[in-house]
Amino acid sequence: MENIEIVNSIDNNIIDSILFIASKSEYIHLSKDYIKQYIEDEYHKVIIIKNENIIVGFLIYFLLSPDADIIFIATYPNDKGYGKKLLSYLFKDAKNNNVSSIKLDLHENNTKAKDFYLNNGFKKIAVRKKYYDNQFNAVIMEKELN
Ligand SMILES: CC(C)(COP(=O)(O)OP(=O)(O)OC[C@H]1O[C@@H](n2cnc3c(N)ncnc32)[C@H](O)[C@@H]1OP(=O)(O)O)[C@@H](O)C(=O)NCCC(=O)NCCS
Repeated sequence: MENIEIVNSIDNNIIDSILFIASKSEYIHLSKDYIKQYIEDEYHKVIIIKNENIIVGFLIYFLLSPDADIIFIATYPNDKGYGKKLLSYLFKDAKNNNVSSIKLDLHENNTKAKDFYLNNGFKKIAVRKKYYDNQFNAVIMEKELN
């Protein structure tokens, strides 16, 4: 049984699970303090997906109508549909808050995530040159909600 929850308060077990999942990706750099700040900030939401009560993914997003941005998403294991379910939650929440499009930026070499976003309706809209480590481009993507 899977379910999605909003993280509303500081819970060290949840934060450790998020850090464990983040550690599986070379593209996600998060610390305990950053996660705490995201949980406590009124314009950021941290959501987790659980399978049989085990945390298997998280999504951190910024939502201040009319804007919404994906900050981080990661799942472990991958390719089980957890990422798609986290995005579906975000799309509903964004629509309920009168957000008309969602944006994100992505390391140019992160082809797995790029394909994932393209398959879920995002389009490439721009490139930010040398955005990561003053070396790698960021691809800016957007999904229009209707
Ligand atoms: C990008 C990322 C979040 C995608 O999450 P995910 O959970 O693997 O995504 P999903 O499982 O929903 O979809 C991926 C593929 O799994 C497959 N899939 C979906 N449901 C499935 C299921 N029930 N069983 C088997 N395969 C399934 C689909 O083929 C899908 O591919 P498609 O888009 O061609 O349809 C994940 O790869 C990840 O954690 N990457 C590392 C972190 C990262 O780079 N994040 C982005 C930058 S912040």
